[in-house]
Amino acid sequence: MGSQQWSSKLGFILAAAGSAIGLGAIWKFPYMAGTNGGSIFLLFFILFTVLIAGPILIAEFTIGRKGKGDAVSTFKKIAPSTAWPVIGIIGTLVAVIILSFYSVVGGWILSYLVRSMTGELSGLSQAEYGALFESIIANPAEVLIAQLIFMVMTIAVVQGGIQNGIERASKYMMPALLILFIILAVRSLSLEGAMEGVRYLFIPDWSYFSGETMLLALGQAFFALSVGVSVMITYASYLNENENLGQSALSVAALNILISILAGLVIFPAVFALGFEPNEGAGLVFVVLPAVFNELAFGGIFLFVFLVLLLFATLTSAFSLLEIVVATLTKGREEKRKPYSWMIGAVIFLIGIPSALSFGVLNDVIIGGRSIFDFADYLTSNIGLPLGALLISLFIGFKMKKEDVFQELEKGASSTGWMNVWYFAIKFLAPFAILIIFLESFNLL
Ligand code: PFF
Repeated sequence: MGSQQWSSKLGFILAAAGSAIGLGAIWKFPYMAGTNGGSIFLLFFILFTVLIAGPILIAEFTIGRKGKGDAVSTFKKIAPSTAWPVIGIIGTLVAVIILSFYSVVGGWILSYLVRSMTGELSGLSQAEYGALFESIIANPAEVLIAQLIFMVMTIAVVQGGIQNGIERASKYMMPALLILFIILAVRSLSLEGAMEGVRYLFIPDWSYFSGETMLLALGQAFFALSVGVSVMITYASYLNENENLGQSALSVAALNILISILAGLVIFPAVFALGFEPNEGAGLVFVVLPAVFNELAFGGIFLFVFLVLLLFATLTSAFSLLEIVVATLTKGREEKRKPYSWMIGAVIFLIGIPSALSFGVLNDVIIGGRSIFDFADYLTSNIGLPLGALLISLFIGFKMKKEDVFQELEKGASSTGWMNVWYFAIKFLAPFAILIIFLESFNLL
């Protein structure tokens, strides 16, 4: 492994939480829930996080700390002369594609951030907020420049080694984001007509139940926890021996569910109270949030602060996506980190251009019934991540020796009773469930 190492116990957990918490919980969860029946989506998202994605997170931590290498060499070390390292190769490719469209949304945040400083985002009508978003994402020059700036910010941190920046800043930014989110939820919930949004989020409407919805909820659980990509394997490889892996995974998963629910409690009450539509799509948060801030005293300032925090949460996830690719290609040769970061970052920016333009000039390009942006998201979240997760669970369950797995997990653990339950979940439940959902949603069952 290279010279990368978390400098404190808190460093690892902050970085893992930083990777997990980002656009997935705050932007994607509300819009996916809003287009897939609200409560049903939330229900399955939580269920899959607890039963499948959470256990996979523990699996990735275990593999990473044991193998102590990048996504590919970790598997080579644990299972020499086998095909298993393909997991790391798939993960690295998936990370490239995710970052290519993630950076587009990162760019949208920058666009909003600039507008929040000029006051352009306050006092608009509900229709005007929608029109503003549409005009921003359809403007090729603006989206590309913003995406480029977002990528440069990501590269600038990763090329210097991620532990320096992330650890210090996350300590303050994350709690601040949480507090602001709670204030927003309270405001949104006190709007007249807010209860309809609460019902939408919590009272299941089973008419939305389908294989496709389950696959989308499963993909969301993986996406939001950053699992299936080997990102968490890479992060755990920078870890020393006395970290409690089970507890770290539990904290990250719990925080992630909490932020997703909070995002729902900010967005949906406001959607119904202020007359928006829940199935707005990728623009939901960008259209509804400024309207909620509008209802708040000093809303303009709060919106600015919120966007800074959201940008930060988005960047810490983007760092992890770039980091896995850089780590895989530099293979521990730290002197190559700088040039590789810039080169890889540039390639990912280029790959992201069609996604960035797919809301404007490339509007008419449809792949498999989806826009380029949606296709990149679907391909990774709903095929790449479940596939990666499936292979990781099989690797732990059927390739690694149970004693070795448990020995790694026991380091730093305060209790061991849960490990058998976890092992069952990873060896049987996760692969079986992923397979069934795959087959069902592609009508093969
Ligand atoms: N978990 C991040 C989010 O929810 O925004 C996105 C992500 C990061 C997905 C890293 C996958 C990954 F490997």
